[in-house]
Amino acid sequence: MGKVEVVNRTKYRVLSRAFLENLLEFVLREEKKEVQGRVVFAFLDEESMREVKRRFFNVDEVGDVVSFFYGEDPDGVWGEILVCVPVALETSSNRGVPLSEELAFLVIHGLLHLLGYDDSTPQEHKQMMERGEALLRGYQRERMYQELLKKAAKAQAFAYAPYSSFHVGAALLARDGRVFTGCNVENASFGVTLCAERVALGKAISEGAREFEAIAIVANGTSFCFPCGVCRQALAEFGLDIEVLAGNQSGAYVVQSLRELLPHTFTFAKE
Ligand code: THU
Repeated sequence: MGKVEVVNRTKYRVLSRAFLENLLEFVLREEKKEVQGRVVFAFLDEESMREVKRRFFNVDEVGDVVSFFYGEDPDGVWGEILVCVPVALETSSNRGVPLSEELAFLVIHGLLHLLGYDDSTPQEHKQMMERGEALLRGYQRERMYQELLKKAAKAQAFAYAPYSSFHVGAALLARDGRVFTGCNVENASFGVTLCAERVALGKAISEGAREFEAIAIVANGTSFCFPCGVCRQALAEFGLDIEVLAGNQSGAYVVQSLRELLPHTFTFAKE
């Protein structure tokens, strides 16, 4: 049996088991904690949540999230997180975010409680909310990176590299959400060769994109593929805040900003 169990008692589509497994793994990694046993995520309607609050907390109200810690029995349930979906739906529409994002935030909040966080004082509450938000942003960023790496790997399959046999794929994420991919295009006259990064950049610029968030690069082999000097300079033209994800064939990657990769950047100083 897996580490995560999901119970959905509502009519809504909630977070999938795979999503919750990834989220749990991410939070545990960031918090440097381990759990013994399974974690149950239950999604409830207002009635059941009111019943839980009445039975276990002796209050007549509907909460957004409640967690129960059962302990470290390796065969049993380590902890349980109950989320009220209609309440999450209302908060999400007030905040203008998707329901899935609000549910993820509540799940993280419940997990933090299980990991020992408390929010009884206003100060603790503030700290816990901030930690929850930071973890959510971190998780979303990691998912975005993984998506971008997947797109780079797809583009890598089109690499034209009969001379070097070094197959490179790149995926460039524009600020408007568009992703432009590229692969290396070699030539019998070696100097004519284009790197994957500049192919992606050329496609992006020719379609009107000018601002970029990140670029993922994937190549064959176990070492991480960083952009060559020419590509660093080409990308720097459009801002040094671009995050560079240097990946390898097994999906592992490291992240560095272009600012770090190209110090003392040349700029065209006008008189
Ligand atoms: N190459 C890229 O496409 N991107 C890089 O970041 C490094 C190098 C290509 C160019 C050439 O086709 C092959 O890899 C070997 O240099």
